[in-house]
Amino acid sequence: MSNLRLFTGNSNPLLAKKVAECLNLPLGKCIVSKFKDGEVRVKYLESVQGKDVVLLQSTCTPQDTNLMELLLLADGAFRNSARSITAVFPYLGYSRQDKCTPGEIEPISAKLIAKMLKAAGINRFVTINLHSDQTQGFFEMPVYNLYGHAFFIDEVVLKKKFFGVENLVIVSPDVGGIVRTRTFAEKVGSPHLAFINKRRARPNEAKVLDVIGNVKGKNCILIDDMIDTGGTLIAGAEALKKLGANTITAYCVHPVLSGDVARHIERSPLDELVVTDTIEYARPIVGHKKIRHYSVAPMIANTILKIFDLYPRTRSIKRPVYEYEMEAVI
Ligand code: R5P
Repeated sequence: MSNLRLFTGNSNPLLAKKVAECLNLPLGKCIVSKFKDGEVRVKYLESVQGKDVVLLQSTCTPQDTNLMELLLLADGAFRNSARSITAVFPYLGYSRQDKCTPGEIEPISAKLIAKMLKAAGINRFVTINLHSDQTQGFFEMPVYNLYGHAFFIDEVVLKKKFFGVENLVIVSPDVGGIVRTRTFAEKVGSPHLAFINKRRARPNEAKVLDVIGNVKGKNCILIDDMIDTGGTLIAGAEALKKLGANTITAYCVHPVLSGDVARHIERSPLDELVVTDTIEYARPIVGHKKIRHYSVAPMIANTILKIFDLYPRTRSIKRPVYEYEMEAVI
């Protein structure tokens, strides 16, 4: 373990602390602050020469600052001759624009991020639920795209037992999420699927056209990778309720939670929203009646141990590795 060093910027200090605890490692010492004009300033307070440096940072709000902190941390480690640099993005921002829409003139932000990581000297990266799996192909380095929905499997299996398999439906909130939802349904052993036919007239505005599948009297499990404005899930939950759904629980890995979404969720027909801590919570989420979370720290720690071939020789991890976590490492 002595060659491993874990550093973090300012995006997820709590999560970084938990990962360090799981690894039984102190967090590396560095300054990640700002110059008076707002420019990001990074300074290592310990040598990383010859070390395997792991940098944990989500590129959530403020995205540009968080990205720059990570890039400068990587560049600093590179210039100090770190043996390897692994970036861990619990949440990878700028990954939604992953293709050019026909007829539109637009960038592919996910590809640009890939080029920036390489230019900064990063050798591999770990993330959780990439917006689209094929984004891995943009990165000319090993990519570990972990399966964040693994945290939700056990409790949905319990729900299946409680309500009965016939009364549980796994629902995709949009056409793009069908494969993700089907995979989750297979993992929990639920044969009943439905999907919501959603359209976006413009970014961040979701409109439900119809629901395909039988949800009347059923307990619906909505599966999504992220909740941002909440439009997708709230409009979806409203449509399901109108069609006579009994309970509606949403499971999303990344709680982007922009603007007033926490308040909207409180008033929505969603019974519960379950997320993870890939993004550190805005204040209104703490103590929210309908929102619960799991910590991804053990999953990240397990993956770091496996990457550096330390896993079988350590017992420092707080939670056993589950089968599906092992499978999730691609
Ligand atoms: C869409 O492709 C994603 O999987 C999410 O459904 C979407 O980003 C959620 O955004 P919002 O909460 O703003 O509807």
